[in-house]
Amino acid sequence: MKVTVVGAGAVGATCADDIARKALSEELILLDIKEGFAEGKAIDMMQTAALLGFDSKIRGVTNDYAATADSSVVVITSGLPRKPGMTREELIGTNAGIVKSVTENILKYSPNTIIIVVSNPMDTMNYLTLKTSGLPKNRILGMGGALDSARFKFYLSQELGCSPADLNAMVIGGHGDTTMIPLIKHATWNSIPVTQLLSQEQQDKVVAATMVGGATLTKLIGTSAWYAPGAGTAVMVESILRDQKKLISSGVALDGEYGQSDISLVVPVVIGKNGAEKIINLPLSAEEQAAFNKSADAVRSMNNVLTESNLI
Ligand code: 2OP
Repeated sequence: MKVTVVGAGAVGATCADDIARKALSEELILLDIKEGFAEGKAIDMMQTAALLGFDSKIRGVTNDYAATADSSVVVITSGLPRKPGMTREELIGTNAGIVKSVTENILKYSPNTIIIVVSNPMDTMNYLTLKTSGLPKNRILGMGGALDSARFKFYLSQELGCSPADLNAMVIGGHGDTTMIPLIKHATWNSIPVTQLLSQEQQDKVVAATMVGGATLTKLIGTSAWYAPGAGTAVMVESILRDQKKLISSGVALDGEYGQSDISLVVPVVIGKNGAEKIINLPLSAEEQAAFNKSADAVRSMNNVLTESNLI
């Protein structure tokens, strides 16, 4: 199978690197608009093959969409990353036009592909891709929930003093500092509810740290994070290519689930060879549902910018 990663910046390159190391695809194309950039990164990664012991082939190309033909999965990471102090939402003006044109180019050569959108603001970029492509909703997924859930597990593990791998915890809502909802009441440490182990103060601390997890890193690094975003995307690619049917918090178009329609938001999704195969409609408490509705309102007002700018 063939995978294309569009955008050879830090997130795209890390995602491609993870895919190559795990040998998820026979062919891996890394595409970037900047002359020679993807080619260089692909060669650098290929030079780790002898050291790390993988056989994956990575080919970098400059804006050559013909090289991406017949990809089973395409990951879109194109666009600007956040700078310190910036919200993901502030990127809409620049990134919407880029994501729309990437989607159109991809579909010329891979009409049957499944697309994973990573570009920010993710919920709105996922909605834009859905509208631009006209593809069925199972073939357009947004990355953000996988990442935010991993950050949630990290902060929980710090508070509990445990392995993040022993935790089950999900973030739903939007992929924004104020729109994401870490579902702490549903989080468990090997089946034990974390709410039985952490004080209210500790729970509040974990939730707050998760919500600004991306901004914290942007402030420290000077740009957006890439290791966890890249790994989160690669996990979704793996679940599709290996038909693992993993339950991953992902951006997906809602048609009445969670009381919302005509919007893409992060909810638990079963991911397999057909992309988003099933949305788990988890019953939410009144408080969680109110938070979800509030996130939907915020994302919807961002989506309206697309209509106002004649992008959809
Ligand atoms: C983040 O939260 C890239 O949106 C991504 O780090």
